[in-house]
Amino acid sequence: MNTLPLEGRLAMVTGGCRNFGAEIAHALREAGARVIITSRHYETAAEAALDKYIPMELDLNSEDSVVALFERVKKEYRRLDILVNNAGGHSRSACGYLEKESLAGWNDFISANLTGTFLMIREYAKLMMNQGPGSIINIASMAGLVGRDRKIYQPDMTPNPIAYSSAKAGVIGLTTDCAAYLGPYGIRVNAISPGGFERNQPEHFIRDYAELTMLKKMGQPGELGGVVVFLASDASNYITGHNLVVDGGFTRYK
Ligand SMILES: NC(=O)c1ccc[n+]([C@@H]2O[C@H](COP(=O)([O-])OP(=O)(O)OC[C@H]3O[C@@H](n4cnc5c(N)ncnc54)[C@H](OP(=O)(O)O)[C@@H]3O)[C@@H](O)[C@H]2O)c1
Repeated sequence: MNTLPLEGRLAMVTGGCRNFGAEIAHALREAGARVIITSRHYETAAEAALDKYIPMELDLNSEDSVVALFERVKKEYRRLDILVNNAGGHSRSACGYLEKESLAGWNDFISANLTGTFLMIREYAKLMMNQGPGSIINIASMAGLVGRDRKIYQPDMTPNPIAYSSAKAGVIGLTTDCAAYLGPYGIRVNAISPGGFERNQPEHFIRDYAELTMLKKMGQPGELGGVVVFLASDASNYITGHNLVVDGGFTRYK
């Protein structure tokens, strides 16, 4: 492994301004890549970018926005070596209770988390199919693999809505088939499914959640970025269509 395995490569991290996205952008930069970070608000991206990253605007709920982003990348950089589809997660209109969920809430969630990922991969394919190699990494979730025990969220937390697990399971399926489609063009497509990471949740939740993992802890800051660097770099050249689960053993434990 080179000391700077991504030197000379251009990467994009969607939603790269905070939390996982910021950690991933930092790790890719440390590994030598130039990194584009996106936000729905250009000013947010520009503030987070400082002089370290390239800020761009992206709203995954808008096809026009995705197309415009890739037009800009094509015009200014011609290629994009690494795409990390990290943005997504929460939605104000989805509610967390199956029997109360509205169609609008469901659609909004699926749009940002699944349809948005499809649009990003489609535009990436148009840009890179004839100039591979390339690497796409989709941040899915353990919630796309297993049902969640609502008991550990009580009494003061609401788990992500049903649409979350459905969207993330969709992202894992999208990853597999896009890997098959894009493999002949030298483009690898992999997913990462994180488990729960510690982020100011109530003490009872952190304790109970930790018990459900083999490593007896929630994920900690710094435990995801290196995994993305691995899948982005030549160290994983023969890995595609994979879903790498980063969950402290949660989904393999009973
Ligand atoms: N936190 C966890 O423990 C956990 C576990 C498993 C999987 N994940 C997944 O990991 C990813 C990052 O999680 P996180 O907790 O770091 O999320 P977060 O703090 O909520 O950040 C999500 C990012 O996505 C962007 N975003 C949201 N909706 C968007 C849209 N419609 N268009 C474009 N960008 C949008 C936001 O950017 P702006 O607000 O700046 O526009 C924000 O930077 C998500 O896909 C999430 O589902 C998280």
